[in-house]
Amino acid sequence: MSASYLSQIPADIASLDDYKKYAKKNLSEQAWAYIAGASADEVTLRDNATAYQKIKLLNRVLSDVRQGNTAIELFGSRLAHPIITAPIAYQKLAHPDGELATAMAAQAQDGMFVLSTLASIRLEEVAEKTSGPRWFQLYFQKDRAQTLELVQRAEANGYSAIMVTVDSPINGLRNREQRCQFQLPADVSAVNCPDALKTPNIGQGDSMVFQGFMAQAPSWQDIQWLKDSTRLPVIIKGIINPIDANLAQDAGADGLVISNHGGRTLDTLPTPVDVLPEIYRNTRGRIPLIVDSGIRRGTDVFKALALGASAVMIGRPIMFALATAGPLGVAHVIRLLRDELELTMALCGCENLDHIDDDCLWQNK
Ligand code: FNR
Ligand code: LAC
Repeated sequence: MSASYLSQIPADIASLDDYKKYAKKNLSEQAWAYIAGASADEVTLRDNATAYQKIKLLNRVLSDVRQGNTAIELFGSRLAHPIITAPIAYQKLAHPDGELATAMAAQAQDGMFVLSTLASIRLEEVAEKTSGPRWFQLYFQKDRAQTLELVQRAEANGYSAIMVTVDSPINGLRNREQRCQFQLPADVSAVNCPDALKTPNIGQGDSMVFQGFMAQAPSWQDIQWLKDSTRLPVIIKGIINPIDANLAQDAGADGLVISNHGGRTLDTLPTPVDVLPEIYRNTRGRIPLIVDSGIRRGTDVFKALALGASAVMIGRPIMFALATAGPLGVAHVIRLLRDELELTMALCGCENLDHIDDDCLWQNK
């Protein structure tokens, strides 16, 4: 079965989730399960989908928002809006142009793109063929030399921040279908670090968790080392526990991504909006907080910003849009979310992102 991509957005796609049914038709069963799925019983995945609906907005009427805009500056990049494409592995699973298509779409929408360590297109190629702002997502490799090489390639190719992901040192908690059946097709691989998926060697009687994956997992010392090894800002991705948010700040993190990895790591973790208020209280203003996991509507973006986020990232909707209509789909998803954010801002009387705070939420009254 070969995929065919739409060259026009059908009228029945009016929200991010509307891409799902189109994407499902165009993806193999295994690719769908890998992308759409999450760990264990998918409790966190389901919570992510409903968490924002429990938070109520407080609108404002008769306000003047004629000067309105969604502009933001993040780590030196001036962006038209706070909607970032999350780092997602193997984007060629969804479209032959993979990460290149996503980077082009983000650029066309004047937004930020993040390339995964497990990207299926070389980071140099993305840099050559696109000129929008970009960050590099780092997974620590087995040794520091390999990790440093990735960081230096990112630096040399104009990636302007390192987003280091720390919440998924073990990638084995997927549901049965994904664990047993998912094998990358021959034309999709982690071309930037071919060693990435090797299973660790362990001694007889050793645990694959403790002596295997965790033995090669990074620690707080590695964050210090990373800070000392790059001139770029270091953003730590995958923080949920406010204790870790404090430690990350102490370790010199320049930003945090409050995320449960879209429900793909430890099942039954809370959603980012459950922990965001406490983390924001502790870090207030000192470092930007970026939120992902379950952001699907402009009202979700607005609520995350109202609770202290500076920006948000979207994950699966990017893959679903890519699988449906390639770069056009991704650009459309970003634009749709931005339009919805603008509408929410207008009806809540906020003419720019600085005006969005918890006074705009009913739960805090
Ligand atoms: C991811 N995510 C991810 N994160 C990361 O730091 N590096 C990676 O390579 C990947 N790869 C990846 C693949 C796929 C198929 C998915 C769905 C997700 C996690 C991603 O960056 C983000 O945290 C979540 O996707 C956000 O949740 P939503 O928007 O998908 O609900
Ligand atoms: C995932 C890894 C690649 O979520 O982060 O699939």
